[in-house]
Amino acid sequence: MKQTLLGSSKINVGAIGYGCWRFAESSLQEADRKIRTALDSGMTLIDTADIYGLGEARGFGGAEEVLGNVLQASPDLRGRMILATKGGIDAVRPYDTTYDYLMTAIDNSLARLKTSAVDLYQIHRPDITTHMAETARALNDIVLAGKARYIGVSNFTVSQTRALQAHLDTKIITTQPEFSALQQAPLIDGTLDWCQEMTATALAWSPLAGGRLFSENNPITETLDRLAEKHNATRTHIALAFTTHHGADVIPIIGTQKTERIIDSAKAGDIPLTARDFYDIVEAYRGEAMP
Ligand SMILES: NC(=O)c1ccc[n+]([C@@H]2O[C@H](COP(=O)([O-])OP(=O)(O)OC[C@H]3O[C@@H](n4cnc5c(N)ncnc54)[C@H](OP(=O)(O)O)[C@@H]3O)[C@@H](O)[C@H]2O)c1
Repeated sequence: MKQTLLGSSKINVGAIGYGCWRFAESSLQEADRKIRTALDSGMTLIDTADIYGLGEARGFGGAEEVLGNVLQASPDLRGRMILATKGGIDAVRPYDTTYDYLMTAIDNSLARLKTSAVDLYQIHRPDITTHMAETARALNDIVLAGKARYIGVSNFTVSQTRALQAHLDTKIITTQPEFSALQQAPLIDGTLDWCQEMTATALAWSPLAGGRLFSENNPITETLDRLAEKHNATRTHIALAFTTHHGADVIPIIGTQKTERIIDSAKAGDIPLTARDFYDIVEAYRGEAMP
């Protein structure tokens, strides 16, 4: 799979990443198989969050715990992946990015993941009751202590990202918005422009719209199917290629729990989508031609 630099860092990752949101109910053996399949397919960025698992049997921290068990059983896997996690949602408050909360959250994440550091620590959602300077102080200390190599944000507006950046000692290297053929807000809300301004990477969450792409038939899915036929590909391939063909660096984070779909999704990296194909999908979303 094509490699791409993660923002302004020196870290190379595969052009498609694998996410662990739906992962918390996996047995050790199943989880190991999914992670190895993703890594073998070139998806070296593995994204998780402390909240994944909430509402399921394992609860808060469940997905990190399962991934940590995989890493404990096969320590060599840690070196094969760029490990990203997130903190800042406690599900009750519901967002907390105060200094004390984050300093405890990162330690708990590292303990569950059974690793001494993550490559990327992301603020999952903005906590608008906490000053960005306080959140930044925690993130600065987390990087200084070697607990995270780099910092990212998720579900932040551009102005929130800039406000946090103003107080950080390091550059924010990623932002993680929802972005897919069915959710094209990042094209116009400034997120992808900010990425180009700052040499940051956008990690597109739910690039297949969380599976909604397969239960709907509308002008967007019809366009995807038409392009799939043209490129001898599938709706999945075209939808993922759509996210990677924006001018900014976008890495879709897929979330299927089926290993055959992980392997198949990797093919999306080779689809020669044209600019016209890309604009066709944008026009289908807009419901009108480009002005
Ligand atoms: N930052 C945030 O706030 C945030 C929020 C949500 C997600 N994320 C990140 O993004 C990652 C991916 O999210 P996601 O799981 O929603 O991504 P996704 O890849 O858009 O959706 C995955 C879902 O689509 C289904 N699917 C895939 N291919 C299919 C097909 N051909 N036919 C029918 N269904 C199909 C999968 O079912 P199967 O398992 O049966 O294949 C799964 O339920 C997460 O793991 C997480 O890392 C971040």
